[in-house]
Amino acid sequence: MRILVTGGAGFVGSSLALAFKHDNPSAEIIAADNLKRRGSELNLPRLRDAGIRFEHADIRDPEDLSALGPMDLLLECSAEPSVQAGYSGSPAYLLDTNLRGTLNCLEAARRHDAALVFLSTSRVYPIDPLRALPLETENEGLAIPPGAAGQGWSAYGIAEDFPLDGHRSLYGATKLASEQFIEEYRAAFGLKAIVNRCGVLAGPWQMGKVDQGFICLWAARHLYGGKLSYNGFGGHGHQVRDVLHVADLYDLLVRQLDDMSVSATGVWNVGGGDTNATSLRRLTGVCTARAGRELEIAAQPDTNPADIPWFVTDARRAMATFDWAPKRSLDILLDEVFDWLAAERDVLQPLLS
Ligand SMILES: NC(=O)c1ccc[n+]([C@@H]2O[C@H](COP(=O)([O-])OP(=O)(O)OC[C@H]3O[C@@H](n4cnc5c(N)ncnc54)[C@H](O)[C@@H]3O)[C@@H](O)[C@H]2O)c1
Repeated sequence: MRILVTGGAGFVGSSLALAFKHDNPSAEIIAADNLKRRGSELNLPRLRDAGIRFEHADIRDPEDLSALGPMDLLLECSAEPSVQAGYSGSPAYLLDTNLRGTLNCLEAARRHDAALVFLSTSRVYPIDPLRALPLETENEGLAIPPGAAGQGWSAYGIAEDFPLDGHRSLYGATKLASEQFIEEYRAAFGLKAIVNRCGVLAGPWQMGKVDQGFICLWAARHLYGGKLSYNGFGGHGHQVRDVLHVADLYDLLVRQLDDMSVSATGVWNVGGGDTNATSLRRLTGVCTARAGRELEIAAQPDTNPADIPWFVTDARRAMATFDWAPKRSLDILLDEVFDWLAAERDVLQPLLS
């Protein structure tokens, strides 16, 4: 078994590479990454110590991918993963990596007859209909009132049949376009590909920054000190997201890879769900208690064009189909993140504070 993990030094890529190696010690696992994300280089010693080979490679360049050789499974975890990317200045890097680069990965999988896992995103769902949901404020966060529901939405969250008309951010568009090419590769070439539309993923070794990885950013700033701001939607910090521990994503992938006749069809919403959802303001309370430090949090009322007030993943289809449920609650996740931040303070504080 030869597994190629593109973006293999990133948060999800390195977490999955390590988990696959742990459970399949005889598998040859290659983590390929161009180290664009600041902090990804910190994962290189962890990969090496686990017996995973690192290759500096850029998915924008088909020759880089060819040089990596054949594989049985390609986990496509490389991306510019920020929904804010491309708005200030040129979107070229975003488009070249998330669209052209993903197409290069599809080609590599086709050439080598490899199975593919594609990490799509909840941000394929369009912005205006998400902003139009009938949200109410309760317990310092936005929520769908009990009983309210429409096509593809309810208090459980957003399901796969939420209508797709409308704009969805440059990032979301690269992911939806990639999904459509995967569908074509399935039909034209019999590509076996799992497409998971993931909500927020988090866990230790996520190099949180203001525009991506807010759980680790919030925890790090509370522990180490630094500035934070409630951005958008009036600056109240009431926007809500559900969060999935990356180890729960791995558990799901193991089940999905076990039966690709089912998993390699359509798309799957994957997330922590309503029981693991938090507003920024509630997260502040939890982080303050854990860090023993209260930060003064600024308010920036203006809303960024790519931002949405509420997203909770309705993952009930994947849960029922694969007999899977997230096992690690948001509390457990935060315990692990705070432990990691404390243990690795010397290297992480300069990066994350
Ligand atoms: N983290 C989340 O909350 C989340 C949610 C939904 C979907 N996803 C998707 O999961 C995947 C992994 O995201 P992540 O959170 O690990 O992000 P990350 O930034 O931690 O990891 C991405 C890695 O890709 C690398 N990379 C960027 N451009 C590259 C290129 N051209 N060639 C090779 N490597 C390149 C980066 O250096 C980085 O190490 C992405 O596709 C992302 O869109 C993430």
